[in-house]
This record gives sequence, structure tokens and C-alpha cells, in this order.
Amino acid sequence: MAIDVRPPGPKLSPLAALRAFRQEPLALLERLAPYGDVVRIRVPRADAYLLNHPDLVHGALVGDHRAFHKGPTIQAAKMLLGSSLLTSEEEIHHRQRRMIQPMFHHERIAGYADAMVRHADRAAERWTAGGRVDIQAEMSALTLAVVGETLFGTDVDEGRSATVRRAMTDTLGMFDRVYSPLFRLLVRIPSPTMRRYHRLEADLNRVIAEMIAERRASGLTGNDLLSLLLRAREDGTGMADEEVRDEALTLFLAGHETTAIALTWTWWLLARNPGAEERLHAELDAVLGERAPTVADLPNLPYTRAVVSESLRLRPPVWAMGRSSVAEHRANGHTIAPGSIVVIAPWLLHHDERWWPEPLAFRPERWLDAEQDERPRYAFIPFGGGPRVCIGEPFARMEAAMIVASIARVWRFEAASSHEPELQAVITLRPRGGLPMVPSRR
Ligand code: HEM
Repeated sequence: MAIDVRPPGPKLSPLAALRAFRQEPLALLERLAPYGDVVRIRVPRADAYLLNHPDLVHGALVGDHRAFHKGPTIQAAKMLLGSSLLTSEEEIHHRQRRMIQPMFHHERIAGYADAMVRHADRAAERWTAGGRVDIQAEMSALTLAVVGETLFGTDVDEGRSATVRRAMTDTLGMFDRVYSPLFRLLVRIPSPTMRRYHRLEADLNRVIAEMIAERRASGLTGNDLLSLLLRAREDGTGMADEEVRDEALTLFLAGHETTAIALTWTWWLLARNPGAEERLHAELDAVLGERAPTVADLPNLPYTRAVVSESLRLRPPVWAMGRSSVAEHRANGHTIAPGSIVVIAPWLLHHDERWWPEPLAFRPERWLDAEQDERPRYAFIPFGGGPRVCIGEPFARMEAAMIVASIARVWRFEAASSHEPELQAVITLRPRGGLPMVPSRR
């Protein structure tokens, strides 16, 4: 595979580059891509490099991963999330990852499938045929309910879980601001927003502390992730309550918005592609008939799983990942000095016609035919790669497939408008202002 190296990139002043990244990040990425597989742009106080080739992505995320730490956005998120799996580095990260990984093994998460189907059915009870719903809000409420139950368990009373959900969504709303150049300053000013944030954070900490104390008192027998975090041991030592809180918050944040966005785009893409929608319905009818799906059905639903993969390709919820280099890194003959920022963009890699024929077409079939064996592994990275690959990938894939199967068995959606939704690339790739759709019964 030829890798094209032609840095430096376009003539953009550092401030203009930063402004373009904040205001129209996808357009900036698309403007940079034609300059080559390694593109350098200057941003204030650093060089930034876009790596846009599967081999270079492998080099940075896998081969030479030690040369990198998480990028500036995730580092800013430490203020909210503390030191957790998502934000920590090196030895602390390894330890946390080793302790938490077993919670995401297939057998463990298979136990959550029923909760996923139950919450999908409950969400559908709110819809009326021919009515109008914001599918993004619906999918968000649904994945929030799923992660709420799997993380905190069914024994959590409704009032308390509502407090957690409200506080988490509001506090995590702060994340939309982390791209602001003034973020570090904003969070230190006692503005009404920050006072509200601190109040909610205190509520959240209180509720999580109560739940931790109750679980410790009752012998930690539950199968919810909070009980598992409290039971986790490495060399005989477990996590302090503070660490458990940070990890629980992180799993809640990382686990709900991304999956909700993936499902939102899946319904929209199916509505725009009647051929694929028909094939999905045919598979569900043949395999499930009149009954709800169970985890045992997943191997027999290859088209349903391909629909999810194709949606993750066309609309990757995590559209870019950033890294800060801490040691020199060689990217195909080019030297990236320590202190640089590296950007890897699923948005570009997933739409690159070198790896994807008809890249903008929604064709779940491409996940079923021999075509997929010829594609470079790192041309598709919705969950990242290497030691920092998404720990929740099996959970998210199962959740998305179970929810698509249980809803599409009964419902279909039409877009309420013929306009393409505008994309809002914040941390995740959202439809700006939500996505109105009209449900009908099949
Ligand atoms: C479709 C849904 C999801 C997508 C697209 C997604 C995407 C990603 C990506 C791209 C990364 C790597 C970021 C980087 O390297 O900079 C990541 C990391 C992570 N994700 Fe996910 N994720 C999803 C669902 C979930 C779920 C359901 C959970 C947990 C329940 C989760 C928990 C995490 C955690 C804890 C990390 C950090 C892992 C580490 O650094 O060791 N994610 N995710």
C-alpha cells in the first residue's frame, strides 16, 4: 500500500486552523485530506498532524502506542471525570484496564441482553403510528435506561436513578464546551452554570457514595457493573471508592451517548435505503417471527449486524481521536516530535474510496461478501484500536443489534423532512437540533 507523505499541509495560520477545527471540523478534515496521508498544520503552541492511512493509524494506535497520550480534549475531561480508564495513562491505565476488562467478556454482557430488549419495548410504548418523535432523544433515553440498569442495577429505586440520570446528563453536557479555548478558565469562574454544575456533581457524588456503601454493607453480590467494580481485585487490592466513582461515571458517559448516536443514524439510514430496510425486515421475520429477540439469536442475524456496522462506517459516532505525542514518532519517514498533536479521523478513513467502493452508499452487504477480507483492518475504526480500543465495543455492538432487532421487528421510521440533517461534530457526531422522524407499524 503506497503511503503518500507530503507535509506541510495547507497555508492556514495557527489561529485560523484552530478556529476552523472548532467551527467546522468535518469541513477542515475534508480540506486537509487531499494533501496526503500525513498532513501537518500548525495550531497555537504545537504542530498538529493528520494521519490518514490505515498503516499509519496502526503505527500510532498499536505499533508505537507508547509514544502517545490522550489528546487535549480528553485531558480537559479529567476535570470532570477524574482519573479513569478513559483519561488515565500508562501504569494506572493498565491496572484499571486489567481490572475492568473481565466485566465486558461475552458471557458477562450476554446477561444484559434481556434488559436491552425490555427497555426497547418500553420505549416503543411511547410512540403512536403517524406521530412525530425526535429519534435522537428517544434513542438517548433508551440507552440511558439500559446503561442505568446495567451499571447501577434494578434495585436502584426510581427516584435515585432519576437523580443520577439527570445529574449525569446535565453535568456531562459540560463536555460540549471542552473545545472552547477558554474551557480551563470557564470551569474556574463561579458562574451560574458552574454553580449548577457543582450542585449536580455534589448530588451525584452523594447518590453514588450511598449506593457504594449499601453494596459494601450487603456483601457485594449483585451483577451490576457497580458491584463488579467494587469486587474487582488486582494483586489482592481493589479500588478506592473515589476510583469506583470515577470509573462508574466514565462508563456511564462513554456508554450511552455514543450508542444512542449510532442507533439514531441507523434509523435515518434505513429510512433512506428501502432496499436495505426490506432485507433487514425479511431477516427478522424469518429468524424471529412473532417473538422478541434473545442473545442466542444474534449469530443468526448477520444482516442486522451488518446494518449496524455500515451505520458505524458512514456516521462514526466518534468522528476523530486526538493524541499528544510524548516521544518521537516516525510516520512513514516523517518525524513527529514530542509535544505534537496527532489526529486520526474515522470520518475520513471510513469514507475513503481507496478502501470503500462507492464510499457514500449505505450497503450493509459489504460486510457480508468477500470484499471485507481485502480491506485493511485499520480502515474501519469506529471503536479505535490498540490498547486504548473501546472496552465497551462488545456491549455496544450487542446493544445496537438487540435494539435494532426488537424495534425493527414491529416499527419502521420515515424521516420527517427530506432535508439531510446538519451534522454537529462535538465529541460525538450528532444531528444538529435532533432528528425528527415519523414511526409507523410494519
Ligand atoms: C457505538 C458505541 C460506541 C462507540 C462508537 C465508542 C467509541 C469509542 C472509541 C473510538 C474509543 C477510543 C477513543 C480513543 O482511543 O481516543 C472508546 C473508548 C472507550 N469506550 Fe467506547 N464507544 C462506544 C460504546 C461504549 C460503551 C457501551 C462503553 C461502556 C459501557 C464504552 C466505554 C469506553 C471506555 C471506558 C473507553 C476508554 C477505554 C480505554 O482507554 O482503555 N464505550 N470508545
